[in-house]
Amino acid sequence: MITVTSLSVAYGAVQALRDVSFQAGAGQITAVLGANGAGKTTLLRTISGLVTPTQGRVDFGSTALVGRRAEEIARLGVGHVPEGRGVISEFTVEENLRLGSMFNKTPLAKGLAEQYELFPALGERRKQHAAKLSGGERQMLAMARALIAEPTVLLLDEPSLGLAPLVTAQLMKTIKDLCEKKKLTVILVEQNAVTALRISSHAVVLNLGRVVADDDASVIGEDENLRQYYLGMSS
Ligand SMILES: Nc1ncnc2c1ncn2[C@@H]1O[C@H](COP(=O)(O)OP(=O)(O)OP(=O)(O)O)[C@@H](O)[C@H]1O
Ligand SMILES: [Mg+2]
Repeated sequence: MITVTSLSVAYGAVQALRDVSFQAGAGQITAVLGANGAGKTTLLRTISGLVTPTQGRVDFGSTALVGRRAEEIARLGVGHVPEGRGVISEFTVEENLRLGSMFNKTPLAKGLAEQYELFPALGERRKQHAAKLSGGERQMLAMARALIAEPTVLLLDEPSLGLAPLVTAQLMKTIKDLCEKKKLTVILVEQNAVTALRISSHAVVLNLGRVVADDDASVIGEDENLRQYYLGMSS
C-alpha cells in the first residue's frame, strides 16, 4: 500500500501540490485524474523520489520514502513509467529491457522471456530500434521495462496519451490483467477519465494541486459535478 500524507510540492513560486493525502490500496488500481497542470506528474515524481516535497510523507507499507534516492525507491519495488514513455529510441527493444533489469535478482533471459510472453509484439521486434515502434508498442516497451524489474508498485503516467481508442482499450485490459495476476499496486494517472475509471477500483481527483475528490471509482464516475467541472466528461 502507498500512503500519501499532507504532501506539498513547490517549484520556486509555483505550488504544484497542496496538502495532498490519499491511499493507494495494495493489489488495486487507483486512478489519479485531473486537468493539465493539476499536479498528477508531480505526484508520481515525488513518490518515486525524483522531486523533493516541501512538506508531507509518502509511505510504502511501513517504509518512509521521502528523503530516499530515486534509485533506492526503485529497488524497493516502485516502478515508474514516465509521461512520454521514457524509452531510449536509439536502443533496440531488448537493450531497453536490459536497462530495466539492471538490478534484478532473476536471470536476464528469464525476465526477457516473461516480458515477450506478456507482450508478443515486443518479442517479434526485439532487435528493432525503439524509434521504429508505434505509439502503442512504445508504451508496451515502457511498461515491460518497468515490469522486468519485478516491482510491486507501478506508477503509470498517462499511458493512453496519443494512442488510438482501440489500442488504449487493449492497453487498459493489459494493465488490469497485470494488476490481478501480479498483485500489483497501480497508481494510474490519466486525463482520460472514462478510460481510467473503467479499470480502477478507487479514484482521486486533483485540481490545481489539491485533492477535490477521493472515492470509489464508480462513485466518482457518476458524480455530475466532478464529471462536468473536473473530468471533462459530458453527461
Ligand atoms: N520542473 C518544473 N518547474 C516548474 N514548474 C513546474 C515543473 N514541473 C511542473 N511544473 C508546474 O507544476 C504544476 C503541475 O504540473 P504537473 O506536470 O505535475 O501537472 P500534470 O497534472 O501532470 O499536467 P499534464 O496533464 O499537463 O501532464 C503546473 O503548474 C506546472 O506548470
Ligand atoms: Mg503530467
